[in-house]
Amino acid sequence: MRAFWIVLLIILLEIHIYITVSQAKHQQNSSANNAIAPLNAPEGKNEDVLEGPIGEVLAQSGTTAVLPCKITDPGAGTITWVRRRDRQLLTVGTSTHSIDKRFVVRHSSTDWQLTIRTVTVDDAGIYECQVTSHPVQRNFARLKITEAYSIIPGAPDLHVKQGSNLRLECQLMAATEKPLYVFWYRQGRMINYDEEPGVDVKLTSSGSILTVNKTKLTHEGNYTCVPSNAKAAFVMVHVIEEEEKPAAMHGGDRRNLSPAILASNFLVSLLAAVSWRIPSFTSLYPT
Ligand SMILES: *[C@@H]1O[C@H](CO)[C@@H](O)[C@H](O)[C@H]1NC(C)=O
Ligand SMILES: *[C@@H]1O[C@H](CO)[C@@H](O)[C@H](O)[C@H]1NC(C)=O
Ligand SMILES: *[C@@H]1O[C@H](CO)[C@@H](O)[C@H](O)[C@H]1NC(C)=O
Repeated sequence: MRAFWIVLLIILLEIHIYITVSQAKHQQNSSANNAIAPLNAPEGKNEDVLEGPIGEVLAQSGTTAVLPCKITDPGAGTITWVRRRDRQLLTVGTSTHSIDKRFVVRHSSTDWQLTIRTVTVDDAGIYECQVTSHPVQRNFARLKITEAYSIIPGAPDLHVKQGSNLRLECQLMAATEKPLYVFWYRQGRMINYDEEPGVDVKLTSSGSILTVNKTKLTHEGNYTCVPSNAKAAFVMVHVIEEEEKPAAMHGGDRRNLSPAILASNFLVSLLAAVSWRIPSFTSLYPT
């Protein structure tokens, strides 16, 4: 009888270990929601050892970060989120505990996500989700913040011939989300909605493209692109004036006159001078 209980206990223990391990594996895998990659490296051998799966979340400055907390037993207990840096309690169950109301829990039965609105680089760090079950379950998320910026190939100075087409591309760098809008400014004036003939602005998945058909001298200037979620970029566009065609002959400027014209002009003046003298000449020989 004693032996039976010992065997039963061992079997139960085995089952428990198996479930715990597969849960941990499952949590590691299911947290791999594209921006999140499981971390293999342990936190180091200090007292602040993180026991449990760690997910990595990459969020762009100014956006809302979402930290997952997968739980396997929905009824196990209350879920709390804690910021490791200062051990501040952020949320308890569905309510926000912190005075910073950017921290909000959004949950389904198996995922208690911590959302942080308008994140900044100061929010980077490790967050811990605890389930007050026995024993306490812990999940960790390391939040990394990227600062998106934009570039315009060809900057800072772009030269375009008068009459040819201009194409400016504003490319977002280090962005995790596509922009809601990209505004273009010429000399500080927004031109997106100008409906200027030949000028077109197109939003792309990674920025914006501005095209100008038959560039005019008035299209010259400082072009700045301002994406909704990234640092702006600018380029100075210089329009090169086309070579002037040979001037048409409407007199005035002697420098533009050909030698043949100069010669004929001379002949005309000479004849005029001679004919003016003719009367006095003829008077020498009165009829
Ligand atoms: C985790 O995902 C990898 C590949 O993405 C797969 O090979 C593995 O079987 C998964 N493990 C579990 C426990 O689901
Ligand atoms: C610019 O010219 C191209 C073809 O040369 C034309 O398809 C496009 O619609 C023009 N863009 C504008 C804004 O007029
Ligand atoms: C172009 O405009 C932007 C924004 O108005 C400004 O920051 C930048 O200094 C300007 N560049 C030049 C060369 O004037």
